[in-house]
Amino acid sequence: MMSKIDEKLGYFKLVWLINRALSNSFSIFVKNNSMIHLVAPSMLSADFGNLNQDITMVNNSQADWFHLDIMDGVFVPNISFGFPVIKQIKKLASKPLDVHLMIIDPDRYVEKFKEVGADILTVHYEACTHLHRTLAQIRSLGMKAGVSINPHTSVELLDDILEEADLVLIMSVNPGFGGQKFIKNSIKKITRLKEMINNKGCKTLIEVDGGVDLTNAKTLYSAGADVLVAGNAVFGASDPLDVIEKMKNS
Ligand code: DX5
Ligand code: ZN
Repeated sequence: MMSKIDEKLGYFKLVWLINRALSNSFSIFVKNNSMIHLVAPSMLSADFGNLNQDITMVNNSQADWFHLDIMDGVFVPNISFGFPVIKQIKKLASKPLDVHLMIIDPDRYVEKFKEVGADILTVHYEACTHLHRTLAQIRSLGMKAGVSINPHTSVELLDDILEEADLVLIMSVNPGFGGQKFIKNSIKKITRLKEMINNKGCKTLIEVDGGVDLTNAKTLYSAGADVLVAGNAVFGASDPLDVIEKMKNS
């Protein structure tokens, strides 16, 4: 039999646990998402021979998330890295892992990505037959759910799914490789998506990925982007900390 005191303690513990879970889950997003400038360096361009050093650099920088690109050689014409590497990054990273899946039928691995430490899990619109179910599954495991669209996919197609997504990732290059040229049409897509999000009054964040650098960062934030992914612009720079800081303040 539980005493009254045990019951009370149990209740307080429950309230404390709920509060902690809520503050943890919101700390990677921002409550008021107007005017936020987040930067997520893409580890695809990191030096895999000195990964620990590049992880430490991102930890010490003003960057907000680690962006991890997972490629299966089928959805995109390239293969990147998998679970052992993500686990290693998770061990050392002091910031959330933003995992971008460029794989077909990602549902098969959602639980596994949770297990190795993904905080935000983004799947491609073009790779999911039952996108609504996939996003719900990601959220049910306590991760933020993202949906990404390729350059040829219209943002209008997301109208019926926006409320189910915490984030939309607009690909501004054809996915598969770092260091490609930014596709200018992406700016129109960001503006239109921002309008759609505002019209619905939802809190979905807009992330832009591919060919982002200091020459276009300001335009992208002004168009409505909340998060900029940058691989080559950060890891190819002689002073990555400076690039991250400048990008955030664009
Ligand atoms: C490409 C990846 C990107 C890539 C970006 O398919 O999704 O995250 O690493 O690299 P940059 O910033 O060099 O275009
Ligand atoms: Zn990416």
